[in-house]
Amino acid sequence: MSKTTTLLLFLFFTLLLLTTSLSKDLCHKDDKNALLKIEKSLNSPHNNIISWDPKDDCCTWFSVKCGDNHRVTSLVITYQQISAQIPPEVGDLPYLQTLIFRKLSNLTGPIPPTIAKLKYLRFLRLSWTNLTGPVPGFLGQLKDLEYIDLSYNDLSGSIPSSLALLPKLGYLELSRNKLTGTIPESFGSFPAELPYLILSHNQLSGSIPKSLGNVDFNQIDFSRNKLTGDASMLFGANKTTFSIDLSRNMFQFDLTRVEISESVGVLDLNHNGITGSIPVQWTEHSLQILNISYNRLCGRIPTGGSLQRFDSYTYFHNKCLCGAPLDSCK
Ligand SMILES: *[C@@H]1O[C@H](CO)[C@@H](O)[C@H](O)[C@H]1NC(C)=O
Ligand SMILES: *[C@@H]1O[C@H](CO)[C@@H](O)[C@H](O)[C@H]1NC(C)=O
Ligand SMILES: *[C@@H]1O[C@H](CO)[C@@H](O)[C@H](O)[C@H]1NC(C)=O
Ligand SMILES: *[C@@H]1O[C@H](CO)[C@@H](O)[C@H](O)[C@H]1NC(C)=O
Repeated sequence: MSKTTTLLLFLFFTLLLLTTSLSKDLCHKDDKNALLKIEKSLNSPHNNIISWDPKDDCCTWFSVKCGDNHRVTSLVITYQQISAQIPPEVGDLPYLQTLIFRKLSNLTGPIPPTIAKLKYLRFLRLSWTNLTGPVPGFLGQLKDLEYIDLSYNDLSGSIPSSLALLPKLGYLELSRNKLTGTIPESFGSFPAELPYLILSHNQLSGSIPKSLGNVDFNQIDFSRNKLTGDASMLFGANKTTFSIDLSRNMFQFDLTRVEISESVGVLDLNHNGITGSIPVQWTEHSLQILNISYNRLCGRIPTGGSLQRFDSYTYFHNKCLCGAPLDSCK
């Protein structure tokens, strides 16, 4: 053989070796095994909802994504006719950063404790499913969590105060469940800024912790609960809050000296027991949505800003509010 042929042969085999090793199963075999078990639990005997070909690299499977290390980093299962529980084997994907089960109305049972093993988890969304049981306290151990959405389920029990330990949490939504108890005292001291706190449509009760006044939320939604007492600490001229919805609770506080900030665009306080009158300071800012109906407010609606742009449905059913757009004051 000539030198050139040897070299060419050598190159050929090196290339062959390289391509076969590349085309070879790139996903980690432990991840693949876990995923195959997950597939088995989600499929019913007569309905193959998920069909992953075990011969393929699992990083190429539908609903699955891998990182540079060829470990599974994302599992997203949505809009399927799945009748099952969340398979405990999701906890055996140790590099998972994103876990989504969404719009699966026959996904039932609790949030499995094995999720506590997912120490790199950043984004958790289990919503529009029919999960039961508690919001697990172990979520407070998953230090990388930035986003939690457990809305539209049948979760019950109280909100674990351990969630306030999460150093990176920026979004917490637990709305449309059956949660009871109070908003934890710890929620006034999230280590990171917590711009979004959405707890609407539950059965939360008691007064909200004073410490929440220290947080500069972007959006607060506590609507349709049974919360009582003072909520005025959520307001403030120096905050950057855009939307505050406290409607349909039993809040009782005096609105007279409650200042709003320039950033507020949406303010819904309807159906509470709020007393006092509308502060003149509110005319300095331009609200897009305002609803303070069904309270116990009194006095003249201050003239100016956006306050006269709303119709009477913004103000009706109060004790004795008057002036445009309501009837003129006597
Ligand atoms: C959920 O389960 C019920 C009862 O087993 C069935 O009638 C219904 O079609 C299922 N719905 C979906 C969206 O899978
Ligand atoms: C939960 O299940 C009930 C009864 O099967 C169904 O009506 C409801 O839509 C489901 N909830 C969600 C959020 O899918
Ligand atoms: C709001 O900010 C102004 C100007 O920075 C400051 O004088 C005032 O004390 C602040 N008010 C509150 C309630 O923090
Ligand atoms: C304010 O809320 C009340 C009670 O839910 C509702 O009837 C009214 O239409 C709302 N007003 C506006 C302007 O949306």
